[in-house]
Amino acid sequence: MPKSGGDGVIYSRIIGSGSYLPRNVVTNDDLARRMDTSDEWIRSRTGIRQRHIAEEGETSSSLAFEASKAAIGNAGISAQDIDLIIVATSTPDYIFPSTACLLQARLGVKGCPAFDMQAVCSGFVYGLATADLFIRSGQHRCALVVGAEVFSRILDWSDRGTCVLFGDGAGAVILKADDKPGIMASALHADGSYAGILSVPGNVCGGKPTGDPFLRMDGPAVFKFAVRVLDEVARETLEKCGQRVEDVDWLIPHQANLRILESTAKRLHLPPEKLIVTVDRHGNTSAASVPLALDLAMRDGRIKAGHKVMLQGVGGGFTWGAALVRI
Ligand code: UT7
Repeated sequence: MPKSGGDGVIYSRIIGSGSYLPRNVVTNDDLARRMDTSDEWIRSRTGIRQRHIAEEGETSSSLAFEASKAAIGNAGISAQDIDLIIVATSTPDYIFPSTACLLQARLGVKGCPAFDMQAVCSGFVYGLATADLFIRSGQHRCALVVGAEVFSRILDWSDRGTCVLFGDGAGAVILKADDKPGIMASALHADGSYAGILSVPGNVCGGKPTGDPFLRMDGPAVFKFAVRVLDEVARETLEKCGQRVEDVDWLIPHQANLRILESTAKRLHLPPEKLIVTVDRHGNTSAASVPLALDLAMRDGRIKAGHKVMLQGVGGGFTWGAALVRI
């Protein structure tokens, strides 16, 4: 049982991060050679310049493994110290076992609970908030939380309205019990009545995937929804921990579209310099996008110890959420 600090409360804190991107980079021009699109259209509508696409044989668990190894090294712990594993993914290796169990085996860890979190692009924020509560309860001390996706496998490569937007990758953090708050507050939401605007409507029947196995999206409806809820949930999270917008050092919204990111910063009256942007290089990597962006900005020295970072997810379900994290 972890010891609590002076105020008697156990908190959780991010003590390390890691990420991994497949080597194969696909530019907008590469796509324009294969379908009726252009670098100009993709850049001006989304800010995306390129994305990483998994090679055959790479899976969510293999990307998660690479990101987790980096996070474990960065945190200065051993894999054996981990007592909880949560993997946020909508592109699991199998229907079951969970990608978290496959990751656990790859890491050579045994016994601790491991489960997947299915909240699409909000998955990492859902996973982080869940791990925080597990640690605060005193039942767990050191969690590995991962977002890992191979969205390239669920894209209809003949639908130019969706396939140009996404990429593959993984990001991970180690969350440890501490006597000072790292996760200052979080807020999670869902509204299943919006399920139809972003979905993969295939299903499993008699053990076989049937129906339409590809991502379908009403882009403009998703855009409007995302901008509204990202603003609302950021304010709700700040209010929960008595912080103001001015206290936020960095904003990391789910990396779906540069225009969504910029609109969110603008609605919050945060200067664009406080926005961490990776969608230009990674595309939309769903549950992996927030931990990938967090790791990148921690490693390049922008995010420093003591900084307050607003992490935000929004995606299929519809789901959305945020966490204010002191590094
Ligand atoms: O994790 C959350 C996941 N999704 C998102 O965050 C996506 C949110 N939505 C968006 O980012 C934007 O709505 C899109 C980037 C998907 C689309 O931008 P838009 O400005 O809403 O464009 P649109 O869907 O209204 O399409 C405008 C035009 C259409 O042509 P017409 O009907 O005006 O002649 C499309 O056929 O752009 C055409 N179009 C394309 N043209 C070239 C759609 N995709 C492409 C393409 N290349 N790849």
